[in-house]
Amino acid sequence: MLINEGIKLGYFILEKSHLNGEVKISGAKNAALPILAASLLVDDGLEIKNVPDLLDVRTMIEILKTIGKSVKFENNIVKISGDVKNKVVPYDLVRKMRASFNVLGPLVLKLGEGQVSLPGGCAIGVRPVDFHIMGLKKLGFEIDIEHGEVFAKKENCEKEVIINLPFPSVGATEHLMTTASLLNGVKVTIENAAMEPEVVDLQNFLNKMGAIITGAGTRKIFIKGVKKLRGGSYTVVPDRIEAGTYALSIAATFGEGLVKNIVPEHLEVLWEVLKETGTDVKIFDKSVYVNGKNKKKAININVQPYPGFPTDLQPQIMVYLSVAHGTSMIIENVFKNRFHHVDELVRMGAKIKVIDGTAIIEGVEKLSGAKVEGTDLRATAALIIAGFMADGVTEVHNDFHVLRGYENIIPKFEGIGGKIKHLR
Ligand code: UD1
Repeated sequence: MLINEGIKLGYFILEKSHLNGEVKISGAKNAALPILAASLLVDDGLEIKNVPDLLDVRTMIEILKTIGKSVKFENNIVKISGDVKNKVVPYDLVRKMRASFNVLGPLVLKLGEGQVSLPGGCAIGVRPVDFHIMGLKKLGFEIDIEHGEVFAKKENCEKEVIINLPFPSVGATEHLMTTASLLNGVKVTIENAAMEPEVVDLQNFLNKMGAIITGAGTRKIFIKGVKKLRGGSYTVVPDRIEAGTYALSIAATFGEGLVKNIVPEHLEVLWEVLKETGTDVKIFDKSVYVNGKNKKKAININVQPYPGFPTDLQPQIMVYLSVAHGTSMIIENVFKNRFHHVDELVRMGAKIKVIDGTAIIEGVEKLSGAKVEGTDLRATAALIIAGFMADGVTEVHNDFHVLRGYENIIPKFEGIGGKIKHLR
């Protein structure tokens, strides 16, 4: 991920802290982004609530505006109206965030053709869009890729289409489900679909606007294309990854606290891992209490698509396990090279080796503060947690990564006793 323009590089200074207290979770970035992309399909006015104010959300809003939509964003509410007019999404916007590729299908449905740059590489590994392209072709899109640009045109397609994804990709599932929702008279089945809660949230949003979609949250999604989607109001689901990050930071610093405004069922696998490693967890209706006073025990974790352990919490759980008693293993099955945080954690005294997509974490007594660099969003969040755990002072550089995905991160950590300063 390249540096967002206009954002001066800054860093965080952290001191050892026991995180205690209550933290309220924002709306889910990964639900808001595909919902905003899908808003292109809606002709009437839309109001989307509980949208986190983040760099990634701002980038998606920029894209909607570039395409011709009128967008207002205030107090976590996005109001969208107007028509899609412009068929090109420039590289400058796509390179900032891969999720921007998901506007291609809706854009082409609205204007008959469209052009979106091919997203580039990313710090967490190779992230192709071949499943998106394969699926769009099945939906009747004619696609040419030249000079890093994807040119797409809408042609006719079969009345019944089955798309079988080689891997349950979240982005491809969302992109294809959204696009299929407005293919009037066409029945589409997505097999081996991603089951993430954000996919379900997108289904709920589209259905509220008049789409006919069932099955999200299972491996098979059925879409009956309709002629028009109407406007309305929708509230985005809470961010399970933000929730998991705060729960882990409280537990990792031997603190206790309440993570509020969440859907606890979205993180069942994390609660199980926390319990098995010695952290007390109490689940309530919309919040979870964690108490990390006990010494952590090692565990083996298999990172998998939902409902497996989420790849977006892999760096944070690794930090938590870095001081556990015994040796843990984390097998990363979603982004096999998502281990850039390991070298930085080693600089802070952790004992971690990566062999063939598996991290072996030998628990140490303590971490020690150092200057480290964030390489991507979740890796940077993990280093911030490590900074709260470590003796001495830690500097976490490349602040912009974390600002892409954590709303009000400084006041939220300060609210639970985190000694954190943001310097720019
Ligand atoms: C989404 C999330 C991201 C999370 C990831 C996995 C958003 C905005 N981002 O990303 O935070 O880490 O899900 O839970 O929701 N793949 C292909 N070809 C494709 C598409 C994907 O080979 O066309 C591969 C990827 O390289 C990766 C795996 O499939 O190895 C999963 O990727 P995917 O689920 O698509 O991730 P994203 O949707 O990009």
